[in-house]
Amino acid sequence: MSEHQGDLTLSEFLRKNKGKCHLELLITLFLNLLDGIYEIHRQGRIHGDIKTANIICMKKLDGTYQLVLIDFGYSKKIGKLIDNPNSIYTWWFRCWRMFLNEYLRKFPFVKPVRISPIMDLWAFFVSMLHSFSDRSIDFLGFRSKTQEQARQVMSENSCALWLMEKMNKLVFQITDISFIKQIYFVLLNKQGPEQFLKIFNSFGFTLDEPEKMYAEYVEEFHKLRNESPIFGHVKSIFNQTRMCCDKKDADISTILSAMTELFVEILRDGADLSLLDALGMEHIESWLVKLKEILKMIDEIGGIYF
Ligand SMILES: Nc1ncnc2c1ncn2[C@@H]1O[C@H](COP(=O)(O)OP(=O)(O)O)[C@@H](O)[C@H]1O
Ligand SMILES: [Mg+2]
Repeated sequence: MSEHQGDLTLSEFLRKNKGKCHLELLITLFLNLLDGIYEIHRQGRIHGDIKTANIICMKKLDGTYQLVLIDFGYSKKIGKLIDNPNSIYTWWFRCWRMFLNEYLRKFPFVKPVRISPIMDLWAFFVSMLHSFSDRSIDFLGFRSKTQEQARQVMSENSCALWLMEKMNKLVFQITDISFIKQIYFVLLNKQGPEQFLKIFNSFGFTLDEPEKMYAEYVEEFHKLRNESPIFGHVKSIFNQTRMCCDKKDADISTILSAMTELFVEILRDGADLSLLDALGMEHIESWLVKLKEILKMIDEIGGIYF
């Protein structure tokens, strides 16, 4: 048997070493893997099928480990339109943006989403969180759902749909999404009635009572946002993390909360920015900085075993 065949996939490795895996080591391995993912992206492609079964935990000659991505069968060029979402990622590693796009396609002005590095990073973070958690912990409740149920939950950005439907009724001349994107942004950031009216005017529409309408829209928008099922999922992620933390001491709880917040941030960005289409590399860089901060924290308290 060659040395190559002796290497385990990350899922096999974690199963075999349950309770013996050092979190610090895992994070270090994942950060190194991120470098590899960046390299693929730099070459203008995404991997397209990142998951623990497609990551090999390779033992190097010096006895240390390295994570290596395998299975480039779904790799795609960045910027390509996704005509068939099932052509990339095992579905529970698929990012929010893809689910949302699939759902929003019922509006004629919503175009298919393009292949973006964020899709790999989403799958990367899901894989990472799976690795840090107990295997029985089901981060998004996905294992107990059918693909259709998960798609419904993940794609229902209530705010976006509410706004699109409302705007579609109000000004049925809409032919592109930029009007909706701008209004969404105004409501999301509570930019005020003047800005709200300005967008309407710039698209050639007038409003009788912009202040009243703005106040109503902001209220409804943020109410929906808080009631959105995705926020329910965020809460359940927190709870599951806490459950995991209960078994350990308070320091671990701090670290896992930090990891969770990181994930929640991605989740939130994935939701809002999919509509605003504004996700740039700066965000990705800032996540990396956060991960490194977490690593430093772990270092300071002397490491944790999972
Ligand atoms: N370099 C490797 N080292 C160890 N195991 C490997 C390696 N390449 C593939 N495998 C094993 O074979 C399985 C399938 O290979 P993969 O390239 O992912 O093809 P598929 O398209 O069938 O998923 C992997 O999940 C892993 O268990
Ligand atoms: Mg595979």
